Amino acid sequence: MKIGILTGGGDCPGLNAVIRAVVRKSIASGHQVYGIKKGWRGLMDKDFVELTIDSVSGILHRGGTILGSSRTNVYKEKDGEARAIQNLKDMGLDALVAIGGEDTLGVAAKLFKSGLKVVGVPKTIDNDLNATDYTFGFDTAVNVATEAIDRIHTTAESHNRVMVVEVMGRHAGWIAIHSGMAGGADIILIPEKPFDIEEVCDLLKQRHGRGKSFSIVCVAEGATPKEGSLVLQSLEKDSFGHVMLGGIGNIIAEEIEKRTGYETRATVLGHIQRGGSPTAYDRVLATRFGVKAAELVHDGNFGKMAALKGEKIIAVNLDDAVGVLKTVDDEFYEVAQTFFG
Ligand code: F6P
Repeated sequence: MKIGILTGGGDCPGLNAVIRAVVRKSIASGHQVYGIKKGWRGLMDKDFVELTIDSVSGILHRGGTILGSSRTNVYKEKDGEARAIQNLKDMGLDALVAIGGEDTLGVAAKLFKSGLKVVGVPKTIDNDLNATDYTFGFDTAVNVATEAIDRIHTTAESHNRVMVVEVMGRHAGWIAIHSGMAGGADIILIPEKPFDIEEVCDLLKQRHGRGKSFSIVCVAEGATPKEGSLVLQSLEKDSFGHVMLGGIGNIIAEEIEKRTGYETRATVLGHIQRGGSPTAYDRVLATRFGVKAAELVHDGNFGKMAALKGEKIIAVNLDDAVGVLKTVDDEFYEVAQTFFG
């Protein structure tokens, strides 16, 4: 077989480990692999290159993606679906491995229904994909954010400040809840639980009333105030219709300082969480996903996604992975909440 592979959506550490695994497993089984550049953009433009054992050598530990990525949505392109199916044929490719999150795999699931032979691999630092316990990239992002919170802790203490740390997490607060818990944040704000800024300030006052002179607030970029409690400016949208986020941390910091009188600073971690080398956990998970995806393609088992269930890598239907996001559940949140204030 001639197998295409692409990486779509926001990049994350571990993409190269998947690419390497798919190439190594496929070549060892007598197949060829072609890298499609810049996600779905490359399929629209027939932009691809053969991947050899040499071209994937030395990339296991490297962040980013050697193929590049984009947020191109096939279904927003003129005749996108028909072109995607035709272009894959024109490129001489028999099947496709799509590595991505909700958006990229949502496109893959639709294309599968229209006849494209595709297998998915779950990627996103947000860890919000259904049907898999974890996505690769998440562990790295959590470790980066936790280290940042640890560092912010010491300077917060020296200056008696409230420090607001904004982490990524558009619809789900997994990074915030994990790094906030691991870093000992005093309040964690996530998209799943709209917050009241007055309650946030009360918690901080309670803590400072106990004699503490500094606090850490960890906020997911997608956290939203309870209706009517704080006004946010409207923001620009991308090709999948998502509002471009980033900025809630600064708004919260200003409000805290205004309402409590405590000196407050904000740090937005942003893309630092997506860059750099994957953790060992992510390298191993990405490699296992890659080998599984290759096997699914070799066996003609399309419309599936490699997934982690407990300790095992299994195949799930692409359809089960997309449509509904996996968000932070109450049990997890309540454990974190025990340490608020
Ligand atoms: O989906 C992963 C993610 O990092 C989100 O956490 C974040 O909202 C978004 O991508 C940022 O996208 P971009 O890199 O296009 O600004």
